[in-house]
Amino acid sequence: MNDIDIGQLQVTFEQRGRRQAVLDGLNLRIGEGETFGLIGPSGCGKSTLLRVLAGVQREWHGRIRVFDHELVSGKRFRGDLRREVQMVFQDPFASLHPRHTVGRALGEPLRVNGVAHVETRIFEALDEVGLPRTMAARYPHQMSGGQRQRVAIARALLLRPRLLLLDEPTSALDMSVQAEILNLLATLKTAHRITVLLVSHDPNVIAHLCDRAALMHAGRVERLLARDALVAWSHAAPLL
Ligand SMILES: Nc1ncnc2c1ncn2[C@@H]1O[C@H](COP(=O)(O)OP(=O)(O)OP(=O)(O)O)[C@@H](O)[C@H]1O
Ligand SMILES: [Mg+2]
Repeated sequence: MNDIDIGQLQVTFEQRGRRQAVLDGLNLRIGEGETFGLIGPSGCGKSTLLRVLAGVQREWHGRIRVFDHELVSGKRFRGDLRREVQMVFQDPFASLHPRHTVGRALGEPLRVNGVAHVETRIFEALDEVGLPRTMAARYPHQMSGGQRQRVAIARALLLRPRLLLLDEPTSALDMSVQAEILNLLATLKTAHRITVLLVSHDPNVIAHLCDRAALMHAGRVERLLARDALVAWSHAAPLL
Protein backbone atom coordinates (compact mmCIF):
# COMPACT_ATOMS: atom_id res chain seq x y z
CA MET A 1 0.00 0.00 0.00
CA ASN A 2 3.00 2.31 0.30
CA ASP A 3 3.20 3.16 -3.33
CA ILE A 4 1.38 5.24 -5.89
CA ASP A 5 -0.80 3.23 -8.20
CA ILE A 6 -2.49 4.74 -11.22
CA GLY A 7 -4.80 2.62 -13.38
CA GLN A 8 -6.51 3.50 -16.65
CA LEU A 9 -6.30 7.23 -15.97
CA GLN A 10 -8.20 9.32 -18.44
CA VAL A 11 -8.49 13.11 -18.68
CA THR A 12 -10.31 14.79 -21.52
CA PHE A 13 -10.39 18.44 -22.56
CA GLU A 14 -12.44 20.36 -25.05
CA GLN A 15 -10.09 21.33 -27.86
CA ARG A 16 -11.25 23.10 -31.02
CA GLY A 17 -14.82 22.10 -30.30
CA ARG A 18 -13.99 18.41 -29.79
CA ARG A 19 -13.29 16.36 -26.69
CA GLN A 20 -9.75 15.04 -26.75
CA ALA A 21 -8.24 12.52 -24.37
CA VAL A 22 -5.09 14.14 -23.02
CA LEU A 23 -4.44 11.22 -20.67
CA ASP A 24 -5.69 8.12 -22.38
CA GLY A 25 -5.66 5.03 -20.18
CA LEU A 26 -2.41 5.74 -18.38
CA ASN A 27 -1.04 3.07 -16.04
CA LEU A 28 1.84 3.74 -13.68
CA ARG A 29 3.17 2.51 -10.36
CA ILE A 30 5.76 4.38 -8.33
CA GLY A 31 7.32 2.99 -5.19
CA GLU A 32 7.50 4.94 -1.95
CA GLY A 33 10.87 6.68 -1.67
CA GLU A 34 11.51 6.44 -5.39
CA THR A 35 12.57 9.42 -7.50
CA PHE A 36 10.70 8.89 -10.72
CA GLY A 37 11.14 10.83 -13.95
CA LEU A 38 8.53 11.69 -16.57
CA ILE A 39 9.75 12.37 -20.07
CA GLY A 40 7.93 12.93 -23.31
CA PRO A 41 7.16 15.43 -26.06
CA SER A 42 5.36 18.68 -25.41
CA GLY A 43 1.63 18.16 -25.05
CA CYS A 44 1.81 14.44 -24.15
CA GLY A 45 0.14 15.07 -20.78
CA LYS A 46 2.98 15.26 -18.23
CA SER A 47 1.77 18.41 -16.46
CA THR A 48 -1.80 17.15 -16.59
CA LEU A 49 -0.76 13.98 -14.75
CA LEU A 50 1.00 16.02 -12.07
CA ARG A 51 -1.99 18.32 -11.73
CA VAL A 52 -4.27 15.33 -11.19
CA LEU A 53 -1.94 13.94 -8.52
CA ALA A 54 -1.77 17.37 -6.85
CA GLY A 55 -5.57 17.59 -6.72
CA VAL A 56 -5.62 20.64 -8.99
CA GLN A 57 -7.13 18.85 -12.01
CA ARG A 58 -10.13 17.20 -10.44
CA GLU A 59 -11.99 15.88 -13.47
CA TRP A 60 -10.62 12.46 -14.39
CA HIS A 61 -11.62 8.83 -14.76
CA GLY A 62 -9.81 5.74 -13.62
CA ARG A 63 -8.25 4.67 -10.39
CA ILE A 64 -5.57 6.45 -8.35
CA ARG A 65 -4.16 5.47 -5.01
CA VAL A 66 -1.56 7.73 -3.37
CA PHE A 67 -0.08 5.68 -0.52
CA ASP A 68 -3.09 4.80 1.63
CA HIS A 69 -5.42 7.37 0.07
CA GLU A 70 -7.82 6.38 -2.66
CA LEU A 71 -8.37 9.59 -4.68
CA VAL A 72 -11.92 10.49 -5.59
CA SER A 73 -12.58 12.26 -8.88
CA GLY A 74 -14.34 15.62 -8.55
CA LYS A 75 -13.38 16.04 -4.89
CA ARG A 76 -10.95 18.41 -3.24
CA PHE A 77 -8.13 16.91 -1.21
CA ARG A 78 -8.92 16.81 2.49
CA GLY A 79 -7.08 15.98 5.68
CA ASP A 80 -3.60 14.47 5.48
CA LEU A 81 -3.56 14.41 1.68
CA ARG A 82 -3.37 18.20 1.50
CA ARG A 83 -0.14 18.14 3.44
CA GLU A 84 1.27 14.92 2.03
CA VAL A 85 1.27 15.98 -1.64
CA GLN A 86 3.11 19.17 -2.63
CA MET A 87 4.01 20.58 -6.04
CA VAL A 88 6.72 22.91 -7.33
CA PHE A 89 6.02 24.62 -10.64
CA GLN A 90 8.30 25.68 -13.46
CA ASP A 91 7.84 29.37 -12.80
CA PRO A 92 8.17 30.31 -9.14
CA PHE A 93 6.80 33.79 -9.91
CA ALA A 94 3.45 32.21 -10.71
CA SER A 95 3.30 30.27 -7.45
CA LEU A 96 4.39 33.06 -5.08
CA HIS A 97 2.03 35.89 -4.20
CA PRO A 98 3.66 39.14 -5.45
CA ARG A 99 2.64 41.17 -2.40
CA HIS A 100 3.50 38.62 0.27
CA THR A 101 6.96 38.54 1.83
CA VAL A 102 8.86 35.26 1.89
CA GLY A 103 8.22 35.08 5.62
CA ARG A 104 4.51 35.28 5.01
CA ALA A 105 4.58 32.79 2.12
CA LEU A 106 6.34 30.30 4.39
CA GLY A 107 4.46 31.19 7.57
CA GLU A 108 0.94 30.79 6.24
CA PRO A 109 0.94 27.04 5.57
CA LEU A 110 2.46 26.52 9.03
CA ARG A 111 -0.19 28.64 10.76
CA VAL A 112 -3.05 27.08 8.80
CA ASN A 113 -1.85 23.66 9.93
CA GLY A 114 -1.47 24.75 13.55
CA VAL A 115 2.32 24.25 13.64
CA ALA A 116 4.06 25.78 16.67
CA HIS A 117 7.17 28.01 16.66
CA VAL A 118 6.40 29.42 13.23
CA GLU A 119 9.32 31.88 13.14
CA THR A 120 11.88 29.22 14.01
CA ARG A 121 10.42 26.90 11.38
CA ILE A 122 10.61 29.67 8.72
CA PHE A 123 14.28 30.26 9.52
CA GLU A 124 15.02 26.53 9.45
CA ALA A 125 13.26 26.23 6.10
CA LEU A 126 15.42 29.04 4.67
CA ASP A 127 18.58 27.44 6.08
CA GLU A 128 17.63 24.16 4.48
CA VAL A 129 17.45 25.61 0.97
CA GLY A 130 20.59 27.70 1.43
CA LEU A 131 18.98 31.13 1.71
CA PRO A 132 19.99 33.71 4.33
CA ARG A 133 17.40 34.30 7.05
CA THR A 134 17.19 37.98 6.05
CA MET A 135 15.33 36.81 2.93
CA ALA A 136 12.22 36.41 5.07
CA ALA A 137 11.60 40.15 4.69
CA ARG A 138 11.89 40.14 0.89
CA TYR A 139 9.19 40.15 -1.75
CA PRO A 140 9.37 37.83 -4.80
CA HIS A 141 10.39 40.65 -7.16
CA GLN A 142 13.35 41.45 -4.91
CA MET A 143 14.93 38.04 -5.51
CA SER A 144 16.62 36.23 -8.37
CA GLY A 145 14.87 33.39 -10.22
CA GLY A 146 17.02 30.81 -8.43
CA GLN A 147 16.26 32.34 -5.03
CA ARG A 148 12.54 32.35 -5.82
CA GLN A 149 12.68 28.68 -6.79
CA ARG A 150 14.47 27.94 -3.50
CA VAL A 151 11.60 29.62 -1.66
CA ALA A 152 9.06 27.55 -3.63
CA ILE A 153 10.99 24.38 -2.72
CA ALA A 154 11.23 25.44 0.94
CA ARG A 155 7.50 26.01 1.02
CA ALA A 156 6.73 22.66 -0.59
CA LEU A 157 8.86 20.89 2.04
CA LEU A 158 7.62 22.85 5.08
CA LEU A 159 4.89 20.44 6.03
CA ARG A 160 7.02 17.34 5.46
CA PRO A 161 5.19 15.94 2.40
CA ARG A 162 5.42 12.29 1.35
CA LEU A 163 5.08 13.02 -2.36
CA LEU A 164 6.81 15.93 -4.07
CA LEU A 165 5.73 16.79 -7.62
CA LEU A 166 8.25 18.80 -9.63
CA ASP A 167 7.16 20.19 -13.00
CA GLU A 168 10.23 21.41 -14.90
CA PRO A 169 11.60 22.97 -11.71
CA THR A 170 14.79 24.30 -13.31
CA SER A 171 13.94 25.06 -16.91
CA ALA A 172 13.17 28.75 -16.28
CA LEU A 173 16.61 29.27 -14.70
CA ASP A 174 20.10 30.06 -16.02
CA MET A 175 22.34 27.05 -16.63
CA SER A 176 24.58 27.62 -13.59
CA VAL A 177 21.57 28.14 -11.32
CA GLN A 178 19.92 25.01 -12.73
CA ALA A 179 22.84 22.91 -11.49
CA GLU A 180 22.62 24.48 -8.02
CA ILE A 181 18.91 23.78 -7.72
CA LEU A 182 19.35 20.21 -8.99
CA ASN A 183 22.03 19.57 -6.39
CA LEU A 184 19.78 21.05 -3.74
CA LEU A 185 16.92 18.77 -4.80
CA ALA A 186 19.23 15.75 -4.77
CA THR A 187 20.33 16.57 -1.21
CA LEU A 188 16.82 17.26 0.05
CA LYS A 189 15.20 14.16 -1.39
CA THR A 190 17.82 12.00 0.31
CA ALA A 191 17.52 13.88 3.60
CA HIS A 192 13.71 13.69 3.67
CA ARG A 193 13.30 10.31 1.96
CA ILE A 194 10.31 11.60 0.05
CA THR A 195 8.84 10.15 -3.10
CA VAL A 196 9.53 12.49 -6.00
CA LEU A 197 7.88 12.67 -9.40
CA LEU A 198 9.94 14.89 -11.69
CA VAL A 199 9.03 16.19 -15.15
CA SER A 200 11.88 17.44 -17.29
CA HIS A 201 12.73 17.84 -20.95
CA ASP A 202 16.38 17.40 -20.16
CA PRO A 203 17.62 13.77 -20.23
CA ASN A 204 20.62 14.74 -18.12
CA VAL A 205 18.42 16.17 -15.39
CA ILE A 206 16.33 12.99 -15.32
CA ALA A 207 19.39 10.73 -15.33
CA HIS A 208 21.05 12.82 -12.61
CA LEU A 209 18.17 12.59 -10.17
CA CYS A 210 15.94 9.64 -10.98
CA ASP A 211 15.89 5.96 -10.08
CA ARG A 212 13.52 5.14 -12.93
CA ALA A 213 11.54 7.00 -15.55
CA ALA A 214 8.58 6.66 -17.87
CA LEU A 215 8.58 7.78 -21.45
CA MET A 216 5.15 9.18 -22.21
CA HIS A 217 3.50 9.49 -25.57
CA ALA A 218 -0.01 10.74 -26.38
CA GLY A 219 -1.34 10.39 -22.86
CA ARG A 220 0.10 6.98 -22.01
CA VAL A 221 3.28 5.43 -20.71
CA GLU A 222 5.11 4.15 -23.76
CA ARG A 223 8.20 2.73 -22.05
CA LEU A 224 9.57 2.30 -18.55
CA LEU A 225 13.27 2.94 -18.13
CA ALA A 226 15.15 1.31 -15.25
CA ARG A 227 18.24 3.03 -13.88
CA ASP A 228 20.73 1.46 -16.34
CA ALA A 229 18.51 2.12 -19.34
CA LEU A 230 18.00 5.67 -18.10
CA VAL A 231 21.71 6.45 -18.08
CA ALA A 232 22.21 4.86 -21.52
CA TRP A 233 19.20 6.74 -22.83
CA SER A 234 20.43 10.10 -21.48
CA HIS A 235 23.70 9.68 -23.42
CA ALA A 236 21.87 8.81 -26.62
CA ALA A 237 18.75 10.99 -26.47
CA PRO A 238 18.47 14.43 -27.99
CA LEU A 239 16.76 17.11 -25.92
CA LEU A 240 13.05 16.53 -26.14
N1 LIG B 1 -7.20 23.24 -19.03
C1 LIG B 1 -7.03 22.78 -20.27
N2 LIG B 1 -7.99 22.94 -21.21
C2 LIG B 1 -7.84 22.44 -22.48
N3 LIG B 1 -6.76 21.79 -22.88
C3 LIG B 1 -5.76 21.61 -22.00
C4 LIG B 1 -5.84 22.09 -20.64
N4 LIG B 1 -4.70 21.76 -20.00
C5 LIG B 1 -3.94 21.11 -20.89
N5 LIG B 1 -4.56 21.02 -22.09
C6 LIG B 1 -4.06 20.32 -23.29
O1 LIG B 1 -3.68 19.04 -22.91
C7 LIG B 1 -2.52 18.60 -23.59
C8 LIG B 1 -1.47 18.14 -22.61
O2 LIG B 1 -1.04 19.26 -21.86
P1 LIG B 1 0.09 19.15 -20.76
O3 LIG B 1 0.27 20.51 -20.20
O4 LIG B 1 -0.24 18.06 -19.81
O5 LIG B 1 1.35 18.70 -21.63
P2 LIG B 1 2.87 18.54 -21.21
O6 LIG B 1 3.26 17.14 -21.53
O7 LIG B 1 3.07 19.00 -19.82
O8 LIG B 1 3.59 19.51 -22.25
P3 LIG B 1 4.87 20.47 -22.04
O9 LIG B 1 6.06 19.56 -22.16
O10 LIG B 1 4.78 21.42 -23.18
O11 LIG B 1 4.76 21.13 -20.71
C9 LIG B 1 -2.11 19.77 -24.47
O12 LIG B 1 -2.59 19.53 -25.78
C10 LIG B 1 -2.80 20.95 -23.85
O13 LIG B 1 -3.10 21.90 -24.81
MG1 LIG C 1 4.06 20.63 -18.96
